[in-house]
Amino acid sequence: MSNVTPLELNGFVQECVNALTDNTLQRLVFSKYRGDDKELTRIAVRSVELKGQRLASCLYEYRTNHITKNVELADVSNLCQQWLESDFQSAHLMTNEWEVQLSISKKGKVLINKYRNKNAPKASEKKISVDDDAMSHNRAKKRFVEQHRPYLRELGITDAKGEIIPSMSRKWKQINKFIEVLSRAIDNTGLADKNEVHIADFGSGKAYLTFAVHDYFIDKLQVKTQVTGVELRQGLVDLCNQTAAKLALTGIKFEQGDVQHFKAQGINIMIALHACDIATDYALHMGIQTGAEIIMCSPCCHKQIRPQMQSPQLLAPLLQHGIHLGQEAEMITDGLRALLLEAHGYDTQVFEFISLEHTSKNKMILAQKRKQPRDNSAILQQIADIKAFYGINEQCLETLLG
Ligand SMILES: C[S@@+](CC[C@H](N)C(=O)[O-])C[C@H]1O[C@@H](n2cnc3c(N)ncnc32)[C@H](O)[C@@H]1O
Repeated sequence: MSNVTPLELNGFVQECVNALTDNTLQRLVFSKYRGDDKELTRIAVRSVELKGQRLASCLYEYRTNHITKNVELADVSNLCQQWLESDFQSAHLMTNEWEVQLSISKKGKVLINKYRNKNAPKASEKKISVDDDAMSHNRAKKRFVEQHRPYLRELGITDAKGEIIPSMSRKWKQINKFIEVLSRAIDNTGLADKNEVHIADFGSGKAYLTFAVHDYFIDKLQVKTQVTGVELRQGLVDLCNQTAAKLALTGIKFEQGDVQHFKAQGINIMIALHACDIATDYALHMGIQTGAEIIMCSPCCHKQIRPQMQSPQLLAPLLQHGIHLGQEAEMITDGLRALLLEAHGYDTQVFEFISLEHTSKNKMILAQKRKQPRDNSAILQQIADIKAFYGINEQCLETLLG
């Protein structure tokens, strides 16, 4: 690949530095790595405040683990320049006002597209609070998560003054929406009346939601709880256990494990948000097997059904477009999951969860255990009919349920 002229990058790099300095950065990601490190894939940069000093927190995303390095703002310019000149072919910057996409061609040509950020806050909205969210419209405002909770600061959602860090505003809204949905399910199932509640979060990742649910039970509901986050990546497990220790929390722990082999018992709430492909089916299966009162999952990467689908010829003109085929496969996968949950004693809803920037992972399946058993033969027949209609041989959850 040809060298890039540093001059062409100056404007973009300066915008990155300004966004960090002004604390208007929402997203800065360097991707399409072309350097020598075989493991590195992306670097995501965000603004953090540590001991009163604003820093750039750089998350180096390797194939199997992530490492964070905090960098002084004075060094950001050189670092961004170096990443673009020799390491990455693409960068995406989003500030409160602008969205800038930079791409470098194989010949070293720099292409920059700049747009106004569609979600740019109006002056009156600049201080971010969950009350801004559309979810609060037209009804009494009720806050499900308190902004001052210590875990939010430790996880980098709030700064030292307890204000939401702008780049984390979507995560903040997601946490609130998640707790709002969960709290209604807790009311429906009467879990708050139990002496102790056991919760498992599969694919807990950085555990924003795992800490949020633990805090909700301990602080808001004042119910003893045991929360276990299960995560494939040891680095994240260690990080989350360290965070729990730093906050002196009890009743929350993280274990390294694969949801496909994890053994769990006596779980009341099974959570699996954005666990990939059939990992969601394994988590759902475990939730059903342990008799969880609440099962919450937000599926992603629907790979199993699509290659099996043989849609009727009539639909061919619609499904000739790959995106439609993908949407169809996703609907069938999650529709079958919902029906299987219904058939195994759960009232099930499928709805839009919350859309994070640049992700389509915004669907939630919420299942609440029915108090009275019901005849499920009609649902089992519906499942069989749908599978036959689309020529589907196997759906992972159905196979696991036997
Ligand atoms: C997209 S992240 C979601 C994190 C978190 N649940 C959230 O929604 O914020 C998915 C996480 O699931 C983990 N994961 C993927 N497959 C898994 C499996 N089979 N068992 C356990 N964890 C898994 C990944 O390592 C990753 O950290």
